[in-house]
Amino acid sequence: MERFRERVVLVTGAAQGIGFSIAERFAAEGAHVALADIREAELARAERSLTGRGFSAAGYPLDVSVPEQVDQTVAAVVGKHGAIHILANNAGIAWEEPFVDIGDDRWRKMIDVNLNGMFYVAQRVARHMKARGGGVIINMASTNGLAGEAKYAHYNASKGAVVLLTKTMAIELGAGGIRVNAVCPGYIQTPMSEAIDDPAFVARYIDAHIPLGRVGQPSDISGIFAFLASDDAAFVHGACIVADGGQLA
Ligand SMILES: NC(=O)c1ccc[n+]([C@@H]2O[C@H](COP(=O)([O-])OP(=O)(O)OC[C@H]3O[C@@H](n4cnc5c(N)ncnc54)[C@H](O)[C@@H]3O)[C@@H](O)[C@H]2O)c1
Repeated sequence: MERFRERVVLVTGAAQGIGFSIAERFAAEGAHVALADIREAELARAERSLTGRGFSAAGYPLDVSVPEQVDQTVAAVVGKHGAIHILANNAGIAWEEPFVDIGDDRWRKMIDVNLNGMFYVAQRVARHMKARGGGVIINMASTNGLAGEAKYAHYNASKGAVVLLTKTMAIELGAGGIRVNAVCPGYIQTPMSEAIDDPAFVARYIDAHIPLGRVGQPSDISGIFAFLASDDAAFVHGACIVADGGQLA
């Protein structure tokens, strides 16, 4: 299937985890993929992994929380490929910390990357899409944006804000031909989640919280990004697609 032939997809946080899986999925379906990430060595490895398989991909070092860098990256991708048709606005950070212990600097860091960074990238790409007459934007939220979890006040707040940012973007941008949705994954096995939780905790967590009896894999999420970017989702707009093995049920 080559649903995304001649489509340019910008994926943030593309060096590993869910972002890399999203990049792989779009590349395998014929797209040119612009990979953006703050970690240059991992980004270069991700780029090599895709181009080595004959896919069309290029890496762009980017800290999404720095608006000037976002401006430069969007301009560079548009300058090189003529357009950004699809944005997978995925970059994010997480760590656990009791509410009363969160320092102002760490609160600001979480909001700076997960909310401000998402806004900078979405807005700059939306301006470009509006000028060229349309596109698709998919923001990475989380089940933590729909229900709280202890020790994640800063993360929960950032992802809850992404859900309403997405809905407001959908209301404002739909008339310009830009479809906007969010994806809300539950527990997905990635370097992010592995850095936080040990295997014994994960086993107890699955038993207590996930009816499907397993954690998710990045491919469980990248397929949803591909669906949302495709014509099959032509009337899906302002939605938040939950993929959590039944946890919120
Ligand atoms: N893993 C999960 O269980 C889970 C669940 C729900 C939502 N999410 C969300 O999915 C997204 C991807 O998570 P993941 O699990 O793949 O994490 P990950 O840590 O494995 O990957 C995140 C990527 O984002 C990059 N990144 C971090 N800060 C950045 C910045 N300032 N600018 C550019 N890139 C930056 C990292 O270098 C990394 O490559 C995040 O937004 C996360 O909040 C993850």
